[in-house]
Amino acid sequence: MASIARSFEELYGRKPEVIAEAPGRVNLIGEHIDYSEGFVLPFAIADRTYAAIAARPDGLVRIASHQRKEKIFSIDINDVKPGSKGDWEKYVLGVLWSLGISTGVEILVDGNVPGGAGLSSSAALECSVAVGLNALFSLNKSLEDLARATQKAENDYVGMPCGIMDQSVSLMGQAGSALLLDCRDLSTELIPFNVAEAGLELLIIDTQAHHALVDGGYAERRASCESVAAKLGIPSMRHLTLELLEAERAKVTETEFIRARHAVTEIARVQDAVAALRASDFVTLGKLINASHVSLRDDYTVSCPELDVAVDAAIAAGAIGARMFGGGFGGSALALIKASDLQMTREAVTAAFEKNGFKKPRFFTSLPSAGASAALTRKPA
Ligand code: GLA
Repeated sequence: MASIARSFEELYGRKPEVIAEAPGRVNLIGEHIDYSEGFVLPFAIADRTYAAIAARPDGLVRIASHQRKEKIFSIDINDVKPGSKGDWEKYVLGVLWSLGISTGVEILVDGNVPGGAGLSSSAALECSVAVGLNALFSLNKSLEDLARATQKAENDYVGMPCGIMDQSVSLMGQAGSALLLDCRDLSTELIPFNVAEAGLELLIIDTQAHHALVDGGYAERRASCESVAAKLGIPSMRHLTLELLEAERAKVTETEFIRARHAVTEIARVQDAVAALRASDFVTLGKLINASHVSLRDDYTVSCPELDVAVDAAIAAGAIGARMFGGGFGGSALALIKASDLQMTREAVTAAFEKNGFKKPRFFTSLPSAGASAALTRKPA
């Protein structure tokens, strides 16, 4: 990206040494099971964050964003530890910290992943900085290492107890495919997902809703799963079956029971979705997507009125499948539709939002795109 290099030079008076980029993501299916060692099936989107970086010989860390170039954030590298100052800069500082960087750097970030839409703009930011630092300092970290480091940055520096899906797909996604990720060991398989060839389109509906429950609600769901695992003496929901859950029902609370049921059924849906995709059976895929939404809405209770209206309106307009994706309590829904129904579906969802007195939704479409990359603009030291 030539323009970020130019902006970097204007801002810091020198050329960047590396320019890196990382995309946001959509999750086709496999929700709220990454932190339970489950399977997920996300894909990287075309929208991405760019990071231009250069090392400094001293310990000064300077961070700026293209949108607010006049405001350069400064901190000494020795003060980069959890609890430090910083707002959005903490996503960048967390990566410096988790990768153990000990010298100063100058960083400029820019990007077009819509924020607040549940498309993982934060993972895109973390991963762009991580692949950039990996190349700049010849850290030789694998993509799995970088996924773990960026998740650690978000868990322990930013304080969000997220799983590992968003960072993994931002790093490992490939054009034309969804990424089947086994969150137990981060092994992956690319599942060809050629929407356009099948005459289909993936419509992303940003509800523009962001409910206050987001952070507390997420942590609470994760804690429920961990509590069930502890009570049943298993490492995670991955080791649970519906039979075992039924047999041990008395050991868990009613809420824990239905949350665990979501985890078990969602892991099975991901495997069925992979089989459906392999067979180009989009009707079955659509049914699984719908079932995932129902489970997230009724058992896991992470949906919200705006997401439900988006999903119902899309299905009523003929979508093959629709569901909320991401953490929930707002953000976006996806609808798998016939490409020729695009306009009609947008109008139907917009009308349903108007009728319910909701904010106007935003729409995006995206094809599975490439994951993160970094290009050195000078030879490594
Ligand atoms: C957020 C988290 C992910 C994942 C999803 C729900 O996007 O960052 O780790 O848990 O929610 O599937």
